[in-house]
Amino acid sequence: MKIGMGADHGGFEMKEQLARLLAKEGHEVVDFGNRTYDNNDDYPDFALPLARAVASGEVQRGILVCGSGVGASVAANKVSGARAALCHDDFSARQGVEDDDLNILCFGGRTMGIAVAWDCTKSFLGARFSGADRHRRRLSKVLEFEASQTAASHNSK
Ligand code: RB5
Repeated sequence: MKIGMGADHGGFEMKEQLARLLAKEGHEVVDFGNRTYDNNDDYPDFALPLARAVASGEVQRGILVCGSGVGASVAANKVSGARAALCHDDFSARQGVEDDDLNILCFGGRTMGIAVAWDCTKSFLGARFSGADRHRRRLSKVLEFEASQTAASHNSK
């Protein structure tokens, strides 16, 4: 799978570790930065380009890491078409895809260990949206709202 990754200083080490594990498993990793550790960098500079790449289909899924995973998920969800969530357990990472079509998984590099993050990553990548009617119905309510916001912002320009 072609997977985009991004992290600020709070998630840099975990991103590097996960990227190595993913490459070992044969995935293609596209690194949206930061490419080097910078104690002063800002998570939106990596979360937003990665979320755009997921939304456009340039990469199939995304993984973001910041200190807590909160800032990264907040930023990524501002991009239309991105569905990002912070997960600390592999049930949520799998079910988030199956039920909610999650396409970006977020972690806290300062709040969780690499073993749990890797388990969550494998569950996330192994899962597919179920397409069940009730899940489509729920997701379409979210996507219709998102589309209406985008249209409203275009009309006000
Ligand atoms: C950066 O120090 C930290 O605030 C950031 O990585 C993240 O935890 C934000 O949610």
